[in-house]
Amino acid sequence: MFEQKATDIDWRHGRTFSLVYPTGRADVDDILVQANLAYLYENALNLRRFPSLAAMQDDVTGMVASLVNAPASAGAGFTSGGTESIFMSVLVSRERAKKERGITNGNIVFPKSAHPAFAKAAFYTGLEVRPTALTADFTADVSAVTDAIDDNTVLVMGSAYGNPHGVMDPIEALSEAAMKRGVPFHSDACIGAFVLPFMERLGLQVPPFDFRLPGVTQMSCDVHKYGYATKGASVVVYRDAEWMAHQAFTYDIWPSGHYRTPSVAGARAASPIAAAWAVMNYLGENQYTEIMRGLLDTTSRMREGITSIPGLQILGDPIGPLLSFTSTDDDIFAICDVMDDRGWGLNRIADPPGLHMMISPIHASFVDEFVEDLAFAAANHGPSRGLGASYN
Ligand SMILES: Cc1ncc(COP(=O)(O)O)c(C=O)c1O
Repeated sequence: MFEQKATDIDWRHGRTFSLVYPTGRADVDDILVQANLAYLYENALNLRRFPSLAAMQDDVTGMVASLVNAPASAGAGFTSGGTESIFMSVLVSRERAKKERGITNGNIVFPKSAHPAFAKAAFYTGLEVRPTALTADFTADVSAVTDAIDDNTVLVMGSAYGNPHGVMDPIEALSEAAMKRGVPFHSDACIGAFVLPFMERLGLQVPPFDFRLPGVTQMSCDVHKYGYATKGASVVVYRDAEWMAHQAFTYDIWPSGHYRTPSVAGARAASPIAAAWAVMNYLGENQYTEIMRGLLDTTSRMREGITSIPGLQILGDPIGPLLSFTSTDDDIFAICDVMDDRGWGLNRIADPPGLHMMISPIHASFVDEFVEDLAFAAANHGPSRGLGASYN
């Protein structure tokens, strides 16, 4: 069975740098397999039929809300991933703006480094997008964001931290700018929610990024990235639980009577809820913190290895286990071609041309092999095959 899998990238040997976030631990894999198997057939469409799923969903959303210091008034919803969490947040903002401010032709303001999910949500919800310039260190330019906000702005966002370069946007200044105009602010912690809190617990300096900032009104926090759940698990958190009513869909017209869903899906996979619950309870704060200690060490080793190769240079000042780098001497994509041929699935980024890696715990065992191959690639490449398509 599944002979076709032989053609897939070998993530179990650290060859992917996003898409999969393996811990490399058999005990964690076992927990995830058991949880997925236990809820293979169930349907989270109707939680009254499956109260165990309702309880696990409440647990997961509550744990994530407390991880990002949400206040007692907060509400949180389980979604299928970062994109759906962001979609819900944008929809809620559009609906609130309509109801509370009478806005019918809204816009959302985001730095260009925002994940495409914001533009995608705007596309689905009929909002205008206002992407703004970045500073030289690839973070959001606060004055460009401030200038782009107007009376029709329904949402402003910043990334904690961003996907392309792994740098923190100035969330405090951005959220204050939004608050001054009475506009909601989304801190996108799809990557950071299970990284930054554990860096803080290790005593590292982390700029404020969560509900401790009064201007942060909503956040996206993925469990299926650095929370190490299998795919299909994210949480959207709102400062005020009442806003969640705007993301629910209710319908009474069809002959079957009342129909209600809290988010996009109708029939909904149950196993992601179980997997998120199981892995979060299994690891707990202490193990997440210890995993982060190792991950930061792996990141430093990767960083040292990359910068020891002549011409290779890290882009910006990445805060966590995400590095993007370029070459001052060569076409970086030509180097990537050689890495591709050797089975490494580095992500290519466009602006500036670079290579992008989201480091996972599993990479601890592959740093030396990776750096050796990268040094070889830097010294022995041909003409470049170019940027190509990237889905990071
Ligand atoms: C910062 C950030 N936001 C949002 C997303 C979207 O998440 P997903 O791919 O789970 O929909 C990603 C995905 O990598 C991301 O890095």
